[in-house]
Formats: sequence, C-alpha cells, structure tokens
Amino acid sequence: MARDIKSLIEKMTLEEKVSLCCGEDFWHLRAVERLDIPRVMVSDGPHGLRKQKDNPDHLGHNDSIKAVCFPAACATSASFDTELIQKMGETLGEECQADNVSVLLGPAINIKRSPLCGRNFEYVSEDPYLAGKSAAAFIKGVQSKNVGTSVKHFAANNQEFFRTTVDTIADERTLREIYLAAFETAVKESKPWTVMASYNRVNGLHVVDNPWFLTDILRDEWGFDGLVMSDWWATNDRVVGLKAGLDLEMPNSGGHNDKALLEAVKNGSLPQAVLDTAVERILDMIFKFTDNRAKATFDKDADHVLAAEIEKECAVLLKNDAAAKGSPLLPLKKGQNIAFIGAYAEKPRFQGGGSSHINAYKVTSALDAVKARGIDVSYVAAFSPDKDEADPAALAAAVECAKAADVAVIFAGLPDAFESEGYDRDHIRLPNCQNAVIAAVAAAQPNTVVLLHNGSPVEMPWIDSVKSVLEMYLGGQAVGEAAVALLFGEANPSGKLAETFPLRLEDNPSYNNFPGDGKTVHYTEGVFVGYRWYDYRNMPVLFPFGHGLSYTTFAYSNLKIEKAEFDFVKGDETFTVTVDITNTGAVAGKETVQLYIEDKTGSAIRPVRELKGFCKVSLDPGETKQAAFTVDKRAFSWYNESYGGWFCASGVYNIVIGASSRDLRLCAEARVASPDLPPFHVDMNTTADALLKDPRTRDLFLNMQKRLLGEKALPSFEALGGNENKWAQRSYLESPLRNLYMVTGISYEDVEKAIAAFNEVLR
Ligand code: BGC
Repeated sequence: MARDIKSLIEKMTLEEKVSLCCGEDFWHLRAVERLDIPRVMVSDGPHGLRKQKDNPDHLGHNDSIKAVCFPAACATSASFDTELIQKMGETLGEECQADNVSVLLGPAINIKRSPLCGRNFEYVSEDPYLAGKSAAAFIKGVQSKNVGTSVKHFAANNQEFFRTTVDTIADERTLREIYLAAFETAVKESKPWTVMASYNRVNGLHVVDNPWFLTDILRDEWGFDGLVMSDWWATNDRVVGLKAGLDLEMPNSGGHNDKALLEAVKNGSLPQAVLDTAVERILDMIFKFTDNRAKATFDKDADHVLAAEIEKECAVLLKNDAAAKGSPLLPLKKGQNIAFIGAYAEKPRFQGGGSSHINAYKVTSALDAVKARGIDVSYVAAFSPDKDEADPAALAAAVECAKAADVAVIFAGLPDAFESEGYDRDHIRLPNCQNAVIAAVAAAQPNTVVLLHNGSPVEMPWIDSVKSVLEMYLGGQAVGEAAVALLFGEANPSGKLAETFPLRLEDNPSYNNFPGDGKTVHYTEGVFVGYRWYDYRNMPVLFPFGHGLSYTTFAYSNLKIEKAEFDFVKGDETFTVTVDITNTGAVAGKETVQLYIEDKTGSAIRPVRELKGFCKVSLDPGETKQAAFTVDKRAFSWYNESYGGWFCASGVYNIVIGASSRDLRLCAEARVASPDLPPFHVDMNTTADALLKDPRTRDLFLNMQKRLLGEKALPSFEALGGNENKWAQRSYLESPLRNLYMVTGISYEDVEKAIAAFNEVLR
C-alpha cells in the first residue's frame, strides 16, 4: 500500500520538518523517531561502495568497508555498452541493499572540457550524448534494486580549481547543448531518485541558489520528480536555496542553516508550502528505500569476477602494428619469451583519489594473472610510481630485460599524485621516468607494447617507436586479470575512446581559458568541446574520439535510412537507420558502430558532426549482423536562444556511420522538413539575404522588388553570377531595406508599408 506522505507531513512540527532538510552527519539523513521516520544512509561510489563507518571524510583518505572496486567511469564509458553498465549498476544496487545504503552518490557525468580536470577519471566523456546514455544505464541498474542514485555534479562543474566558488561563464546554447544535455538524458530516461547540485556558480549565481537550474530546467522542463541535495557543504544561502529547489543540505552546517530556515518560516519570508514540498520529496526518497528492502548478498568474489569481465570490454586497443615478422604484435603468441616491465605490472593503478576511492578487498595484478595461468614472464619494476626522474640503474635493467625477450610489455600510467579529485593536472605528460623507460626499451626491443593505467589522456612522445598501445584506463581491482586476458587474446579488445587524445595539451579548445583566474572561468570555446573542436578545425589528433582497434576487422555495408525525406511537420516521430556489419577477420569480436549527424542546412555555426547513436555488435568470424539506430527530431536540433528552445532547421543533413569520429565508413543524405521557424522581425536594417533565405518572406520580397522598382529593378540575385560580379552580388544580398529609399528613390512611406507587410506574414 502506498504511504500517505502528505498526512505524515501534517503531523510533523516545524522543527521536525526543518531537521529533515539537512543531514544528521556526514552520511546520514535525520530520523524522526516519534513518527517512525527512519534514519537512512547515503554513500559514495559510484564504481564501488565507499561505505564509511568511523572517521568520515570526503577526500577518500579514511577507511571505508572492504568492497569491490569496479572500473571507473573513464573506463566503463569506453565500453560503449549500456547493457554492461546497467549490469554493473544492478550489482552495485545489490551491494547497497546488502549494506543498507539508500542512495549511491553517482554517476558523475560532468563533461570533460579539458584533459586537465583532476576528476576526469570519474567522468564519462567529452560528448553529452554518450555521457547521458551511459548515466541512464547506470541509474536504471542501481535503481532496479530499489536503491537511489545521485546524478552529479549538476552543473557546469568541469574543473577542480576553486571548484567551491568558481563562476562558470557560459552562454545558454553552450550550457544546453554540452553541459546540461547529459543530465537531461539521465533525468528523462532513468528518473534518478536524486540529483546533486554542484559547488560552483554559473553566470554569477551559485547553482545551489539558482531556480533556473534546480526548478525551471530540472523539474518544469525535464520532469524531474526526485530530490535535489547539495554537494558536501555546497550550500550557500539556505533559504534562497530551498526556494530555488535545493531540498536537502548535505551534510549539515552545524545547526546554522536549520536556524535560518526556522526563522524564515516564522517571519514569513519562506512559505511553509515550499518547506513542505522539500520534506515530501525527502520522505518519498526515504520510504522508497525502506519500504522496498530486499534480501541481498554482497558476494565479493563473484563481483570481483564481474569487475574483470567489465574491464575486458572497456580497454581500448589504440595501436597494434605488425611485429617484425608479419601479424600484429598483439595478441601475444604462445611460446614467446615475454618481459613485463614497469611497477604497475606488480601493483596496478586501478582507481583514482578522492571521494570515489574504494577500499578494494583484493587486487589482481598482471603478474598475479600470468602466474595463475602458469605463464612465465621476466619482470623488472623499471620505475617507481612516486618518482618523476628516471633511475639510470633501473633503466639499464629494463633495457637488458627487454633485449633478452621476444616482446616487452611496459605497464605505464599516471601516479595518484598526477590526477585526483581536489586539484587539476598541470600537464598531460606521463612522469619523465616512465617516458624514459618506454623510449629506451622501444629502442632496444622492436616488439614493444605499452599498456596504460590512467584516468585521462596522456601525450605519447614515443608513439612511433612502439608497436602496440593498450589503454586500460583505471580498470578496477581486477584490472590485471583483464589485462592478461586481452594481451594473450583470451578476450578481444572492444573499447572505443570516449574522449579525444590530443597531440599536445595546447591543441585543446579550452587551453586559453582553463582553469581561469580562480574567480571566473570563461567557456569561450562554446559548443566546440572535444572532437567538435578538433573536427571543425580539421586538426590532427593523437587518437580521435570513438577510436579503438580489435584483433579482428569489420566491414560496413548496406546503410539504409527508413525514408530519404523525413517530415516532422506531418508528425513523423522517429526513423530508423540500419547498417550491416561483418566480421572479416579470424576471431570473434565486438564493434561499436557510431552514428554521426552533419548539418548541411547552414542554419547556424555548428560542429561538423555530432554523435547521435551508437550500437555495440558482437560477431563471430564471417558473421554479419545489422546495427539499428533510432533517430528523432532532437538529433538534428541545436539550441537556438532567440527561438527559445531546441531548433531543427529544414534542409539537408548527412547521416554518417563510422568506426570512430575520424574513420567514417558510410554516408546517406536525409532531407528534413521541420515545423520550427526562427523568430523573424523585419525592419529597415533587414537585408535582402535574410528575406530571400526565409521561406516565409522570399516570394513576397521578390514581388515587392518588382512592384516597387519596376523597370529599375535590380537584376535578380541569380543573374548576378560570376566572379566579376561578386561585389555586386554581395552588395545586393547585404543591402538593408533602408537602401530602397536612400539609394533607389522609393519613398520612405512605401518602404515602411512593405515592412509592415512582411511582419504581417511573419506574425
Ligand atoms: C564530492 C562528491 C561526493 C561528496 C561526498 C564531495 O566533495 O564532490 O562527489 O559525493 O564529496 O563525499
């Protein structure tokens, strides 16, 4: 039977209501024992359970219960596999049920604006479509077990530098298309129980105090019906915040904000109804959890196995050239004499630092995993993860070890100190000692593989001298097992990059404006984030968005769009795009097929192409399957501020199918008819160009020209062809209507009448 939360609220005193709107301690909401309102716990994650018993902290320093550390979001996003991410969410939901945790604080889906952001390892992508789909899958998984999630950090919190106060300056189109879109998908598709409001300000106002974010967009536009909580100590002005839509303050303010709320209700500046609404949302969350408790077990060993399975789907094979004698260097072949080089082979870096830090109950290294298979490898540590400068003796030992082997596999990566919550990266280089080891080993051993443990892109000055690179990201506690399975071909790499690896940091679009001056940060690159920038500028990159190789090869054929003309005016809702994918190699494998849309209408300055669909297909050798995508009006639209919403221009678009954002295999043209018409008001400064371009004014303008100018009419635009007439053509198109009375001698009154006629048809 559904609970009668409204009657419960009627029984509560003002003090009880206020007390419920802020946490009791670091991880608990308050109980109201008198009314049997239980005390529930929330916990960090999200790629594991960080349930703390004693000594709570949000820096990840103090211990939490032993749990299973799954691959971090930097890795899971590369799987492009929403079913897998949902499965991981289900498992985490069960773990939360078993440990009595009501809300898992994630997923974290802020857009990777710069590779320097210290928390990129926790975030999903530079692309909002992928980030949204991945978040929705995770949320569905966790919440299917009657445990809540808190999609975070809402919004435009894309750096650590002064994260609690920095003011993000961005225009609405940029916010809508890039920084809000993933939250929108998550909210609409998976109904998270909670949203976590971020620390920062946006355009001058703290997000936690901003009704535009917390109510207008989140609730009124997207239909969010859960509760909004603050990030830890993010509350600014509690009364303003509550009115804006910040229901729950976490953890608390030592009583200060409770007093402020009480006082505000008493003096009438905070309507009781606003408080009641927040209380209702909080109670709803509490009872959704406590009324649906399920018996669950947290089977650490089973979840460890799952963590390895997931990571096998996440690793990205960035490069795999042929070895000296023929076939690609990876997978490693039986009977080869193999050297493992680098300290991470023994002690992998498998997660990042800060609030998401999991107390992993066991860790499987690559050395453990080869040992378990009875495979002999030689090993030297070669560098210390805590050091930057190379040790000549360790370097010499690494070279000797590599020379004596048939293949050298270098386990490199970023040390903890190089990327973490709380501070941003200074550069995107690996430690000097690791670059030195890779360069020296590759010079001595032509068959060198680099395997990377890092949460965000790194420069690879040695890329041309190594044969293969396998990006493991921060792969969770079973990363060694996954690494060995992939190296030896028991599993076939199928991850694709969810972010661009630039050649140099300086190429990144945010370079001039990251992280700002500590007070403000200007998102001057606008919507041109990640591949949207590199593609627009046609820049070379180290590895493009969507890139990832396999031990097999795939052929793309038979691209079909349901209709060549798509009519949103007549009410078409969606259409289907299909393409056949064939495994043309000798082993089973998975391919992530990507659908990009290119706007050819010229209605705005837009990225060259944007991801609007992906589909991971599993294929045996020789097998062909169809990948299918559903495309809707939104996939063609951009956020038009003067239109006041998502705007789809009529005209031609390309539907492009790719194996990456730069490996485009097939393309079909789609004609779109859209009911959206931009607002248009004609005045003396409206140009011929604008009147000719708009279907509502074109004919009227041409007729008016004939009528008013008669014999003196300017030659038609079409007649003004040819290079010699370029100036004439431009001056015709760029003529404002006022030229009609200033240059051609038509009366001012007649031009005014014509303007009125245009505005009449535009009404
Ligand atoms: C982080 C959140 C985290 C919270 C609780 C904050 O500092 O930004 O992501 O959930 O602490 O640990």
